[in-house]
Amino acid sequence: MAQSPDPEAGGGTSLYVHVPFCVVKCGYCDFNSYVVEDRTVHDRFLDALDRELAEVWRGRPVTVFLGGGTPSLLDAERFARLFVVLAKHVDLHACAEVSMEANPESLTVEKARIARAAGVNRASIGVQSFDAAQLRFLDRAHTAEGAERAFAALREAGFENISLDLMFGIPGEMPELWTADLERALTLGPDHLSCYNLTFEPGTRLTHAMQQGRVVPNDEERDRLMFLHTRERLAAAGFVAYEVSNFAGRGGPCRHNDHYWLQGDYVGVGPGASSHRAGVRTTNLKTVDSWARAALDGLPCAASAETLHPAQRAGEALWLGIRRADGVDLARVEARLDWPVRAHFAATIDRQVQAGMIMRVGDRVRLTQAGLLLADRVGSDYLQ
Ligand SMILES: C[S@@+](CC[C@H](N)C(=O)[O-])C[C@H]1O[C@@H](n2cnc3c(N)ncnc32)[C@H](O)[C@@H]1O
Ligand code: SF4
Repeated sequence: MAQSPDPEAGGGTSLYVHVPFCVVKCGYCDFNSYVVEDRTVHDRFLDALDRELAEVWRGRPVTVFLGGGTPSLLDAERFARLFVVLAKHVDLHACAEVSMEANPESLTVEKARIARAAGVNRASIGVQSFDAAQLRFLDRAHTAEGAERAFAALREAGFENISLDLMFGIPGEMPELWTADLERALTLGPDHLSCYNLTFEPGTRLTHAMQQGRVVPNDEERDRLMFLHTRERLAAAGFVAYEVSNFAGRGGPCRHNDHYWLQGDYVGVGPGASSHRAGVRTTNLKTVDSWARAALDGLPCAASAETLHPAQRAGEALWLGIRRADGVDLARVEARLDWPVRAHFAATIDRQVQAGMIMRVGDRVRLTQAGLLLADRVGSDYLQ
């Protein structure tokens, strides 16, 4: 049950690099990120990253993803050092896809050039909205014009594959506002779009405000209309909805995320990053300080390791894969995991087919139009 290199037949391991710093902590965000202005902490992060990579990374990754947090927050000198550190351990130029997340307030042409020269060939800008009031509500540190400047900076530096992250379903948002956001995003000519329905994550300031009645979630029906409009409008603009929230234009799908949704092996480095290799999941120490201390002392950065039960692994394959437009090839997962996936989940699959949430096409299961709207709920049924 240990071996599982398939996704989808290419096998291999991807690398995720977590840069845990942000200019502000957005009220809706539960990612492992911190507002740290002290640049000696950034230096310590880079020193520790070097040590962790030396310990845990070998060979050539299928894809690399620099995420966060905000990789572009590092000042130009430290940003350049990030790539010097990475280049010691990974040949980025030999990699099919090297993605980087960037925020408008900190991305400059200089940094975009540094990243491009180092081998980054795909960038994703956290735009969220072009509306000033919405950006304020979300605690974002940038303006609409700032997002447009960041896009232009990436193009100027030679990026041919740029994605934009947008959010809809922000409390009080009317469909017209979302339509305007989407149109302004399309005007830029992005190569990929991620459109997320805002979620209330446990423990965030936004959720706290909702619990106190200071913020009222958007009407579900309104969110549903915005979701459907997104799919129709982006299809008309030539984008392929290859995952519930992700739309491929000229740049094609994000190969890193696709590898992840196909349950490919990956190694995550940085504070709180998790790794998954052949059914074993490890998760790093969460705070910058505890993680860096371990790395610099030559100790393991992982705080926990879990060997997944075959049923858990198969359930996660469905939970992740059902979000893809292609759905899940059950026979393939069964062969990869050497586990009777179809028999084990027969009752759940039948129930979801009966409820009109998924459809079966040969050995594949995929979401129906009704299921798309409830993808999280459909997927989580396999985690029980
Ligand atoms: C965690 S951020 C990291 C990248 C970068 N710092 C940024 O803010 O864009 C990645 C993306 O996740 C999305 N995101 C984060 N929290 C979310 C939430 N509660 N609901 C929906 N989308 C969320 C945002 O669109 C964001 O661009
Ligand atoms: S959404 Fe991005 S910028 Fe905002 S706190 Fe999360 S990681 Fe940082």
